[in-house]
Amino acid sequence: MKRRSLSVAFAVSLCAIAALVGPAVHGSAVVAQIADTVSGTGAEPDATALFNDGRAIFRDDTFGDEAFWGGALKLHQAIEGSALGGVGGGVSPKTALSVGLKVDVDRLPAQLVAAIKAGNVDLNTPATTVALLKAKAVVGVVGSFGPANDKELTSVGISCALCHSTVDNSVAPGIGHRLDGWPNRDLNVGAIIDLAPDLSVVQSLLGVNRPTIDKVLKSWGPGKFDAELFLDGKAFRPDGKSAATLIPAAYGLAGVNLHTYTGWGSVPYWNAFVAVLEMHGQGDFTDTRLDNAKQFPVAAKAHFGHVRHSPDLVTPKLAALHYYQMSLSAPTAPPASFDAAAAARGQALFAGRANCISCHQATRFTEGGWNMHTGAEIGIDNFQADRSPDHRYRTTPLRGIGASRMKGGFYHDGRYATLNDVVAHYNMTLKLGLATADQNDLVQYLKSL
Ligand code: HEC
Ligand code: HEC
Repeated sequence: MKRRSLSVAFAVSLCAIAALVGPAVHGSAVVAQIADTVSGTGAEPDATALFNDGRAIFRDDTFGDEAFWGGALKLHQAIEGSALGGVGGGVSPKTALSVGLKVDVDRLPAQLVAAIKAGNVDLNTPATTVALLKAKAVVGVVGSFGPANDKELTSVGISCALCHSTVDNSVAPGIGHRLDGWPNRDLNVGAIIDLAPDLSVVQSLLGVNRPTIDKVLKSWGPGKFDAELFLDGKAFRPDGKSAATLIPAAYGLAGVNLHTYTGWGSVPYWNAFVAVLEMHGQGDFTDTRLDNAKQFPVAAKAHFGHVRHSPDLVTPKLAALHYYQMSLSAPTAPPASFDAAAAARGQALFAGRANCISCHQATRFTEGGWNMHTGAEIGIDNFQADRSPDHRYRTTPLRGIGASRMKGGFYHDGRYATLNDVVAHYNMTLKLGLATADQNDLVQYLKSL
């Protein structure tokens, strides 16, 4: 019965799915805004096309990275399991959801959503995961099918949305409408990579064996990834904790100068970096800073600053991708999520006695210009900063911080569990002399941003 309802749903649906496009989170408002801004210049069609292209790239483009995730790591075989021609027990939807993967309900046919809600879909079989992949409904995971059998998963790739989108849980935990730009702080990237039957490419890049890789991947935990591991080979901090960082918000970035926690470059810089060096897409990437073998031994040896592919599947997409990201505004905090009177007092402190505004400048909540600081300036160690070319931390833009970034803690590695802890840290390190009530007011203000 369970299997039947699923396959019936799919038979009805597979051709209809192509027509289903997930609603834009901030999409229509942004398009309207763009159209207003450019009206009279004749640029409207280009703006809309860029937005739509960028959204499609952000959500579904793998830049040809199937060669890595499917080809080299054989991750699709682990998803299928031996019953479907792969290896091991396979990945059921239940397992997929438990490692933080999300399902986009707007990519599923209505009958299937109804069946899921009624508990009539078997969430314990890898066959259902493969069917969800076929429907392009697993956020950020892109399956390849056929050609002999269009139900056979032949490879798998990842898109930006894997880490930088989540869902609103409106159908069930992990299943709902897509939220682009929201960091997926449930996603256990290390556990997912560790499912791969073959990690020999990673082993030879880092010059270590599989058990060592397993230990590193297990150390990351939910919501974290280590983008610098493949440059410097440093998996652990001097204190023995994981060197991974939290997945940051990818919204609220318009008007912000440098990006990543340690300010590697602009959004298009980092997009090319990630698409080529982290996702292993087929594209070009240039950065002679990575030739510095002392700071980046792994990258320098592998010539990561001089990557060329033909055809280049990344560079031609950077404009649209950038445009879409700039359109992702931060979510506004629900009125019930903070105390408005306390937030108003907190705002006065932020701009006044606590002087947070000297770095988190209105209205982007980071500095215009070179928004970088040493660890010493904010009272923390310089380990993560020293893994980047400028040896500094970038002032984090704070919009949306209360609404969606609570999971996993704050600062680049989540070292502060709550906003209260962050404010208490500033109070101590910057000798602000704030009373407990003042600190609470500041927290309410942060929650309102
Ligand atoms: C495996 C998870 C993962 C994937 C896939 C991924 N990112 Fe990221 N992204 C991260 C992490 C982790 C960071 C923080 C890196 C750091 O600071 O060292 C980050 C940082 C960023 C930032 C900087 C945000 C800021 O704070 O200013 C942007 C922009 C971004 N990613 C965009 C993208 C785009 C576009 C793609 C697809 C081409 C992508 N990412 C793919 C995990 C991921
Ligand atoms: C000297 C510049 C500077 C000052 C002053 C400053 N900040 Fe920050 N802030 C930063 C930097 C840099 C980071 C990034 C730290 C990291 O990721 O490790 C940051 C991070 C944060 C974060 C964490 C954001 C996140 O998503 O993890 C919060 C919250 C924050 N600051 C609030 C404040 C408040 C409140 C004040 C005033 C009491 C303040 N900051 C004063 C530079 C500053």
